[in-house]
Order: sequence, then structure tokens, then C-alpha cells
Amino acid sequence: MATVEELLRAGVELLRAAGSETPRLDAELLLARAVGVDRTVVLAHPEAPVTAGSEASFAAELERRADGEPVAYIRGFKEFFGLALASDPRALIPRPETERLVELAEREVVARLSAAARPVGTAPLRIADVGSGSGTVAIALAVLLRRRKMLSEVEILGTDISREALNLAQENAVGHGVADRVRFMEADLLPPVIATPFAIVLANLPYVRTDALPRLPIAASFEPAIALDGGPQGLSLIHGLMGRLPDALEEGGVALLEIGADQADAIEALAHETLPGWRTEVALDLAGQPRVARLEPPRRAGS
Ligand SMILES: C[S@@+](CC[C@H](N)C(=O)[O-])C[C@H]1O[C@@H](n2cnc3c(N)ncnc32)[C@H](O)[C@@H]1O
Repeated sequence: MATVEELLRAGVELLRAAGSETPRLDAELLLARAVGVDRTVVLAHPEAPVTAGSEASFAAELERRADGEPVAYIRGFKEFFGLALASDPRALIPRPETERLVELAEREVVARLSAAARPVGTAPLRIADVGSGSGTVAIALAVLLRRRKMLSEVEILGTDISREALNLAQENAVGHGVADRVRFMEADLLPPVIATPFAIVLANLPYVRTDALPRLPIAASFEPAIALDGGPQGLSLIHGLMGRLPDALEEGGVALLEIGADQADAIEALAHETLPGWRTEVALDLAGQPRVARLEPPRRAGS
């Protein structure tokens, strides 16, 4: 029987030759899956023998990865904010940089819910997650708020133009036990009529420029194009959402929009033009890159 170390070495070589950007990590994750253990177990036991059945599963999944398929689709899930979110070609694979959007969203919610006593019967804080995909932002935020015992004080609406993505999001919401506070709706950005505006609008919409799509790693070609293509300048959908914000946000509301690292100046210019008088700030991610635009409307006179 081959050992863990031998199979890993061969797997890394195969994936490196195939152009994987993370051959070691990919091979470790796929071998752990084939053996049925956590990756840390594989790392801790390089000498362990691997059964012929596990070796065959590993070889088959290595081939899929060598053909470009993302590891998250092969494994069927992706870790995001410590959660295992189901992931398949119905929706974009959650990206680590989106955790920053969730952190900032949590901060906004906590600030609002802690600011003043909320008498029993106060309406829940309404939050929208536009372009929800697999439910990434909405579900991670709901889980964080449940830990703070604040989940019952919010209502989260996830929207997406893709019915398939929403089906996956619903599965994730049920799987993480938050389906009672997170609803999903098929919509072009937001519902056409917003009877009750939102306190917080969140969005990780597509922001890759159309002409940059062919230069993305091959793994991205397995993801829905509609989840990546942000139009000629990458900001078409974000611009469309900005146009909806004056009606979508309640007084004192705020929008947090994930952007590309090179889009800080463009988003500020777009906000200046589309939302005159609004306060715009861009927060950095953990890598020090511009990542989340915060848009806040001017206070109305007397408020
Ligand atoms: C970059 S993905 C992000 C998905 C998810 N928010 C995440 O962070 O993993 C963008 C999502 O926006 C959705 N989308 C694209 N155009 C849209 C539109 N006009 N209205 C609503 N959603 C849209 C896509 O289907 C996709 O699920």
C-alpha cells in the first residue's frame, strides 16, 4: 500500500504540472477527503498506509482538479467564516475576502441594536443581502448574530437573479439552522417595490470587468458567469444598486458593498455622481486592499 506521503508527493507534482496555484493544499484536501479524515490528520501521519479504494478515489478527484475543477466543487463545500457552506456549480464559491463584508455588517447591526433600548414589539432590523449566491453573507451574518443572541431582532432578505443559486442558499440556510430569519427571493437586485425600507443593504455583486474574465484562473470557468461578470468597467451592477439605494434604505440606513481591490477611486467617483451628498468610505481587507465601500445617506433636516 502507498503511504500518505507518497501519494501527496505524486499528487502535488501532478497538480503543479496542471497549473494549480495551490498544488500542496489541493492535494492535502483531496487526499483527506479520499481517506475520510480531516486534513490535519493527513498532515500528522505521513507514514500511514492508504487503502487501494482511497487511493483510487484520490486519483479520480486529482484528475478532476487537474482539469481545472475547483476543490470546493469536488468536495461539495467551502469553509467560510468557520462554517462549511455547501458549494456547487449553481453559485459562486465563497471567497475569503468576503469575510470582511460580513465583519463590517455585524458591526453595523450590533451598533444599531445596542444603541438604544428596544421595547418588546419593536420591528426587527431589516437587512438585505443583494446577489446572495449560495447565501454566503446572509447566512454567516445570521450565525454570528445567533451567537450574540441577536438573531431574533433581525430579518435578512437574500436576493439573487439566479433561481439555482437561491435553491443552494436555501439549503445552506436550513443546514445552518437560520432559515427562520433568512428568506430568499428571486429579484433583479432588489424587489421592484420596497414597502418597508432596509436598515442595512449588503452586496457582493459581480465586479470583474468583462474583458478580464478570460484571464481568471481556469477554476473560475466552472463558476456561473453571471456571478462574476460586472460589465465593461466591472461596476455595472454596483452602479445599478446604487441607483436603488435612496428608496431601499430607511433613514439612518447604510449600504456596504464589496468591491475589487483596484476599484476604490472608481467607486468613490460613481457614488459622488449617483448619490450626491452621501458619505462614502472604503474599508480595507486583511491584506490591506480596498474591499468594502460604505455608503451613508445625508441625514434629513430635523432628524
Ligand atoms: C460575486 S457573486 C457573490 C455571491 C455571494 N454573495 C458570495 O459572496 O458568495 C454575485 C451574485 O450576484 C448575482 N447576481 C448577478 N446579477 C444580479 C442581479 N441583477 N440581481 C441580483 N443578483 C445578481 C449572481 O447570480 C451571484 O450569485
